[in-house]
Amino acid sequence: MAKYRIACLPGDGIGKDVMDAAMIVLNAIALDAEYVYGDIGWKFWKSEGNATPERTIELLKTTDCCLFGAITSKPKEEAEKELNPELKGKGYVYYSPIVKLRQEFDLHTNMRPCKAYEGNPLNYRDDIDLTIFRENTEGLYCGVEYFPLPEELMGVLSMHPKMKRFVNTPLKDIALSCRIITRKGAQTITRQAFEYARKQGKKSVTIVEKPNVLRETSGLMVREARKIAEEYPEIELREANIDAMCMWLVKNPQNYEVLVCSNLFGDIISDLSAQLVGGLGFSPSANIGDDYALFEPTHGSAPKYAGQYKVNPTAMLLSVKLMLDYLGEHTWAQRLEDAVAQVIREEKIRTYDMGGNNTTLEVAREVTKKMMRGM
Ligand code: IPM
Ligand code: MG
Repeated sequence: MAKYRIACLPGDGIGKDVMDAAMIVLNAIALDAEYVYGDIGWKFWKSEGNATPERTIELLKTTDCCLFGAITSKPKEEAEKELNPELKGKGYVYYSPIVKLRQEFDLHTNMRPCKAYEGNPLNYRDDIDLTIFRENTEGLYCGVEYFPLPEELMGVLSMHPKMKRFVNTPLKDIALSCRIITRKGAQTITRQAFEYARKQGKKSVTIVEKPNVLRETSGLMVREARKIAEEYPEIELREANIDAMCMWLVKNPQNYEVLVCSNLFGDIISDLSAQLVGGLGFSPSANIGDDYALFEPTHGSAPKYAGQYKVNPTAMLLSVKLMLDYLGEHTWAQRLEDAVAQVIREEKIRTYDMGGNNTTLEVAREVTKKMMRGM
């Protein structure tokens, strides 16, 4: 039996292109690993009414971790329209596969490093090196939503004085999405951020919330962060509101090292931060739980480029780096990151987004060549 069993889920669109790039690197490393491919994505939504088939969940349970490509997600009505005719009107509801996997495997921590690599013409500044810790299973992503609002729920909600304004609105005209944050969720994500800061010798962690308005949910996040910060006296806890943080990140991104936030704020701020270091093509992510982890580039499935091997594989290759770290293969992880950095620095082999005309796979081969040098 191989030492590692790794699930590969290419998913939709360019997910396959970047997965092929990842496999070039992984095959060269020749880990003692078995790679098993699974079904996920839009095709399975259309044909089975489930974008994340049960067999894929079962497959993942037999593996140590998962490498994930990209996924197409669409709002409810658009998704329903694309269902195969025989499945329409049968009550199938589209749920984002990645959100489902994060919750199913309790991958509470989403870590998103955004680093400006030297020589990247797309860097907003060259001195950016920040990492986002995004709570990954709760908040506005918890999936507890209603439309129309059930009557019983209105009954309960009307006990809140602020609900008075809505009690005369017809139930059919009210949509509700719950933002659930648990103390445990708040503690876990802040602890992960502080642990990372300590290990990496970072001087500050910034909690990015909105406690002036979201008094209870953001309030809980901030209060728990303050408590946890006491255990890390060498690290400064800074507090910022999400709106102001967007401004600060555009003004002085070099001043931030580790950011921690609830789910939706982390989603938003991670796209903003990715753009500061070249865009989503440079932004890897690790979804980590207590006993499972999934690694994915932050970008989407970019259907218009699917199968053309045109897109930048850097985010995927850096996600492989995070996976190697998770598996304890730190030497390989470092070699891979160094090779990615070197290819960017050399300014020779580049995909179109960086002004070049090399393919996804050519970049992966060049990174592999550099990574294997001297081996
Ligand atoms: C991300 C993506 C996902 C999210 C989508 C595809 C559901 O934007 O990983 O940031 O919102 O979390
Ligand atoms: Mg996002």
